[in-house]
Amino acid sequence: MRARFHRHTRRAFQSLRLPERPRILEAGCGRGTVTFELARLSQGTILGLDIDGLALQALQRTIEDQQLGERVEVHKLSLLDAPEHLDAPEHLDAPEHLAPFDPPFDPPFDPPFDLIWAEGVLHLLKLPAALAACHSLLKDEAFLVLCEAQTWLKTNLSVFEAAGFVLHERFDWPPGAWWDEYFEPLQARIRRLKREGGANLSELKPYEEQLASARAHPEDLECLHAVFQKQPT
Ligand SMILES: C[S@@+](CC[C@H](N)C(=O)[O-])C[C@H]1O[C@@H](n2cnc3c(N)ncnc32)[C@H](O)[C@@H]1O
Repeated sequence: MRARFHRHTRRAFQSLRLPERPRILEAGCGRGTVTFELARLSQGTILGLDIDGLALQALQRTIEDQQLGERVEVHKLSLLDAPEHLDAPEHLDAPEHLAPFDPPFDPPFDPPFDLIWAEGVLHLLKLPAALAACHSLLKDEAFLVLCEAQTWLKTNLSVFEAAGFVLHERFDWPPGAWWDEYFEPLQARIRRLKREGGANLSELKPYEEQLASARAHPEDLECLHAVFQKQPT
């Protein structure tokens, strides 16, 4: 169902002025929902970073299935480790609770990039440190595109400005998009499964928790893609 929102990703991507084969870094690529959309949209190369080894294992399998290995690489690395530790492989160590992931490549950063893409990630990080990392990895006037809640961006806009990014363009999703296109169908599916019986209730629990959180914080569901541009240094 998440893929329904790719049209917003496409709209933001198509607004960019990029080289023919851009070098893209995707922060927090997870299992690659957005990664493959970026691969479809561009002729360039994509370096995906995430700290979740299990998600990266799944993503790596799909990269191989789709024979995209020439253009898409993934590494188990925190965006926050990026600028200061470019030559320090010990920073690839997994936090205890995460599965190991052995990338089939040498590590990894080779800045500067033409574009950093970060959907649903920056709100999880210490923003000044994350933006310092992005700044150090991008060419001058290159783009940082994020997808977050509109309220989050309003609160944090000054942090972007202080970090040397200007808001170039924003694409607000239609009001209620998450509810109408994701949570409503999810709720209907859960009700149907329960009505029909035989559903494993413990498997449904995480989805019910998602629904409860969505009902409790409707403001977090109003999202946007924001395109920032790095000011020349
Ligand atoms: C909400 S998910 C979004 C995944 C994907 N971008 C999407 O839109 O489907 C957030 C992702 O950020 C990753 N993440 C969290 N902290 C990170 C960090 N410091 N560096 C890189 N990725 C991180 C998580 O492991 C998770 O895969």
